[in-house]
Amino acid sequence: MSEGAAKKEEKPRKFQAIRGTRDLLPPETALWNRVEQTAHEVFATFGFGEIRLPIFEPTELFARAVGSETDIVSKEMYTFEDHDLHELNLRRSRSITDIELFTEPTSVGIILPYAKHFLTEAKQELTAGKLPRTPSNEFLLARIESDLDYLATLTDATPRDAFRDRCSELRRNMQALELGPVISLRPEATASVCRAYIEHNMQQLPQPVKLYYLGPMFRRERPQKGRYRQFYQIGAEVLGGSDAPAIDAEVIEMVMMFFDRLELQGVQLEINSIGCRDCRPKYVELLRAALLKVKDKLGPDSQRRIETNPLRVLDSKLESEQGIIARLPRIADHLCEDCATHYAAVKHQLEMRGVIYRENWRLVRGLDYYMRTTFEITAKGLGSQNAVCGGGRYDGLVELLGGPPTKGIGFAIGEDRLILSLQESGKAPAQQGRDVYIAWMGERAHATAIRAAKDLRKAGFSVELPPVEQKFGKALGQADKLGAKYALILGDNEVSEGLWTLKTLADGSQAKYTEPDLLAHLRKSL
Ligand code: HAM
Repeated sequence: MSEGAAKKEEKPRKFQAIRGTRDLLPPETALWNRVEQTAHEVFATFGFGEIRLPIFEPTELFARAVGSETDIVSKEMYTFEDHDLHELNLRRSRSITDIELFTEPTSVGIILPYAKHFLTEAKQELTAGKLPRTPSNEFLLARIESDLDYLATLTDATPRDAFRDRCSELRRNMQALELGPVISLRPEATASVCRAYIEHNMQQLPQPVKLYYLGPMFRRERPQKGRYRQFYQIGAEVLGGSDAPAIDAEVIEMVMMFFDRLELQGVQLEINSIGCRDCRPKYVELLRAALLKVKDKLGPDSQRRIETNPLRVLDSKLESEQGIIARLPRIADHLCEDCATHYAAVKHQLEMRGVIYRENWRLVRGLDYYMRTTFEITAKGLGSQNAVCGGGRYDGLVELLGGPPTKGIGFAIGEDRLILSLQESGKAPAQQGRDVYIAWMGERAHATAIRAAKDLRKAGFSVELPPVEQKFGKALGQADKLGAKYALILGDNEVSEGLWTLKTLADGSQAKYTEPDLLAHLRKSL
């Protein structure tokens, strides 16, 4: 086959959105906009201001705040080294491949020159300030140098294992070298809000500081209905010096009012208190001891969690474990006095606000920063992924991130799930129609049509102005398809008479108007 023929047959690749991501299209985006507009309005009535945050942050921020052992941080983040040291990176990969391929002491002559070259370049980049001069990088470069010195002294008599051990160490040291800061796409935004609070000295502002945000988050989870890898949250945080139970209650009241305004169906609020640094560890030990007694009756996941994080066993949905879990000790019976008082006051404050809740002692949440109040809200039509909002108190998180002692509480709503639930209950908007479709014929009418479109749009009507002339029949068909309410008919006659024909598409009736009368008529009827 000639080159030309081959090219002709080669079909261009069709691209698709990456698994777990999706396009949001009209008319659905109108619902997204309505939801977001409602959030702006409702949150403003509670005195919250919007914060816009970066999409990526140092990985370390999330590891410290959310917890390095959590699923989110240990398995689900999109993480990469942010650098432009491409040459050095390639050299490193090539060197590592050599080390993996050539495993006999006699191959040292192949491995060494390339690895030395890598080391020389890495040192140059460190001096030039492109390779981060961190204690870890300086340590690793020294280790790599000593590994290479050792390999250079090898003789034929060197035992194979010694050679291989040293090569593995060299490989690990090379891999661990950070070519640039390690950053992650944000899996959530509470950590970023706390980082911003510290960075901008917000403790000097009138307290508490009330912030909200909306935007995409990223978690590499198994995609399914209501669970995506790029998903959207609407969240709010209150930061400051007070942990008054009324703050917890007001934050919850706000999110409930927001859902109410959207007429979200089947809303159920569950609350719990998971104690504090003093009482929780004691409860966790008690729970662990109780779990150990029934270990053989639990599934493998829960068995593992007895060691790693016994609280997460309470989250288990496994049918066979439900009876066992129901008999486990409950945290509410083991809260310290301060936590018990705080929890009772939060419930009282919710009642004062007429917020209906259900207590769920098994609500523990999957992020490490929580203490005391935790809550989740579910809604109708979502199947297994039915949590539409999650939140709680996180006193001490700002301190953990290097800031002043600060109390905090907040929530995040899963906007994708919120939209799904609204759609399931028939709250989706119809296709966006047009107010007026301008059917024009002839050059003179075109000029008039352009002017009419401009004036109507200025007056706030949505107008479709076809770019090329169409026969009136076709134009009216098009107007119908677009769901236009009116067709404005402009031909030679209309232009010369100064009387424009307006057709009401619902009933086919027609009337003639002068230009100002037409505007007044539309204003009245639309
Ligand atoms: P979270 O429970 O991890 O909490 O997420 C909050 C909500 O985000 C969930 O209830 C769910 O609706 C939605 N969501 C989470 N992952 C996904 C996903 N893969 N696909 C679709 N929706 C998802 C937080 O993120 C905390 N930062 C909330 C918070 C703010 N706590 C205090 N302040």
